[in-house]
Amino acid sequence: MVNYKDLGLVNTREMFAKAINGGYAIPAFNFNNMEQLQAIIKASAETKSPVILQVSSGARKYANQTLLRYMAQGAVEYAKELGWEHPQIALHLDHGNTFELCKSCVDFGFSSVMIDGSALPYEENIALTKQVVEYAHQFDVTVEAELGVLAGVEDDVVAEESHYTKPEEVIDFSTRSGCDSLAISIGTSHGAYKFTPEQCTVDPATGRLVPPPLAFDVLDAVMDKLPGFPIVLHGSSSVPQEYVDIINKYGGKMPNAVGIPEDQLRKAAKSAVCKINIDSDSRLAFTAAVRQVLAEKPGEFDPRKYCGPARDEMVKLYTHKIIEVLGSDGKAL
Ligand code: G3H
Ligand code: 13P
Ligand code: ZN
Repeated sequence: MVNYKDLGLVNTREMFAKAINGGYAIPAFNFNNMEQLQAIIKASAETKSPVILQVSSGARKYANQTLLRYMAQGAVEYAKELGWEHPQIALHLDHGNTFELCKSCVDFGFSSVMIDGSALPYEENIALTKQVVEYAHQFDVTVEAELGVLAGVEDDVVAEESHYTKPEEVIDFSTRSGCDSLAISIGTSHGAYKFTPEQCTVDPATGRLVPPPLAFDVLDAVMDKLPGFPIVLHGSSSVPQEYVDIINKYGGKMPNAVGIPEDQLRKAAKSAVCKINIDSDSRLAFTAAVRQVLAEKPGEFDPRKYCGPARDEMVKLYTHKIIEVLGSDGKAL
């Protein structure tokens, strides 16, 4: 058993309370490899932003759970080395789907876990979430739950359609499950293809797809029912078109990739939405940089020569998100 406090990590309770009161959101960036982790920590340390390092079960399999724990511990030390005196870093399981997985993460040094029972019938979602809460809270680990279904891919679960969260369920769900935060469905979705072209309009000036707006009425109704309760948005990548263009220019094929416009996320970050999940944008930044280097320098075979520029691009991306979208800079001095 490893307690996250011994690794220098924090849970999300205080982060979220401050974010709601301060009208900003905490970035939850997924990582799978060293370059992503380095970039997340560099951007967070330079901007003094609290940050959530997010690990999916796929990432845990990819990176190895023991290695991950030491990477997170190393991340705290690296942050200090970069001059961040009091790093506020949480290590969070993204989309945990069983009690056993959540327990294993609690036991391995995670400071926060998500139990995603959103695909289950309502009562089963409550029962599973409650079971995880009862275990995690013994170790002061915070628990995120999900109510409502996002379209797109959630690890091994693919949902064709989204089902918005029903505001009339949120009081009962959060009270009976005891969760610390709640992920809701208001029209975001996972991945780089969040909307079909048919769901979008076309901007006549640029010819780009313009996605439909998020369901802020659902968010408002949830906040009315649960004033001050921490709300989480998944599927919040913006799919920057400059990365898509670079990928397509250098041999990739990502037609009609589209994300959530940043102004919508900015608006959400000012509300009780206190955690915003971003994974795909980092993948796009990484892939665009790697493709560009390899296309321009076909003789290059040293991974540092293409992973290095990819890492630099991700630092830019994370810094932009923190300062220009979430407003979390300067909140963890
Ligand atoms: O919600 C999904 C996250 O982006 C994680 O994706 O399961 O491919 O690691 P992954
Ligand atoms: P994106 O695919 O929009 O980056 O969403 C990531 C996410 O929600 C991780 O849980
Ligand atoms: Zn998600």
